[in-house]
Amino acid sequence: MKIGILTSGGDCSGLNAVIRAIGLYAYSNIKNAEIYGIPDGYGGLIRGEYFPLKKDVLSGILDRGGTILGTSRQPFKQMTVVSESGESRLDKMCANYKKAGFDCLFTLGGAGTHKTAALLCMEGCNVIGLPKTIDNDIYGTDITFGFQTAVEVVTDSIDRIKTTAASHGRTMIVEIMGNKAGWLTLHSGIAAGADMILIPELPFEPEKVCEFVSENLKKGNGYNIIAVAEGALPASEVKLKKSERTFVRSARGETTASMHLAEIIQQQTGSETRVSVLGYLQRGGTPCAYDRLLASRLGGFAGQLAKEGKFGVTVAVSGSKITFNALSEIAGKYKFVDPNGQIVSFAKSIGIGFAD
Ligand code: F6P
Repeated sequence: MKIGILTSGGDCSGLNAVIRAIGLYAYSNIKNAEIYGIPDGYGGLIRGEYFPLKKDVLSGILDRGGTILGTSRQPFKQMTVVSESGESRLDKMCANYKKAGFDCLFTLGGAGTHKTAALLCMEGCNVIGLPKTIDNDIYGTDITFGFQTAVEVVTDSIDRIKTTAASHGRTMIVEIMGNKAGWLTLHSGIAAGADMILIPELPFEPEKVCEFVSENLKKGNGYNIIAVAEGALPASEVKLKKSERTFVRSARGETTASMHLAEIIQQQTGSETRVSVLGYLQRGGTPCAYDRLLASRLGGFAGQLAKEGKFGVTVAVSGSKITFNALSEIAGKYKFVDPNGQIVSFAKSIGIGFAD
């Protein structure tokens, strides 16, 4: 069986652990397994590039961050656009899949990667997806690999920010990745004991944020930690189209809600307020033990699906079990935080503010 593996979209910790597990499974359990890495995600497949992933290449990468294959973002919308040569990117990928003689393609990626994987399946390629993202927003799986490592990194960062916030008696806004979904902000915010959590799923009222900060200070709490997802929205911006929101923010020289919120807090409460954007720290570095185990189990399971000839699926976690979903069922869907769900209700019950 000739197997291709690619990693697509934003990277995260655990990608190499998955690649290794697919390889270890296939070399031990699939007759005549030949494994190839496709560089730079779908970019490599579009260009028809691949290279052998021999056993020695898979050795020593379990705990390595990033991806040994490289990755790139290839917007889904452009996949079916026909170029001057009369071919779309999708046409090129299918042609290159066939030319390489692949029997199976593993696509490690997030929601966008899964949409393209579903298209490839419809065109006759044998695809198995694996759910990667620090955002934890892939539909149909309880958790994605890379998420827990990011939770650890963000929690540790907030812990550190807390000590300087306490020393100076400041309000600290910590901006955390997650454009559409607030999972990372919610989990790490709770784990780090943030006072307030602002996520895209619960638009916030700046006035309520200020009231909360003032109340907190009145109670004698010398500082405030506000965990803010990069996609958090003030209620006034909910009805704006994406382009209108970008326009409003770029007029202030900003892309997210954090800086403006900091100005409002400082003006209205008098609390000295600072913003700390965690950025790509959240995507880098060695995977935590949880992610190493999860990534290994997902990769091994994906290998087993290939052996059984089960294609057009993506591996998923349901409870404590590893399972799979049809790509056609999950493509184009997201898993969001339920504003009325158990974890938000719990957070509210212990006094964490959401300003919604
Ligand atoms: O999808 C993962 C993610 O880290 C998001 O949380 C973030 O908005 C985005 O990627 C950043 O993407 P890029 O690597 O293209 O800057």
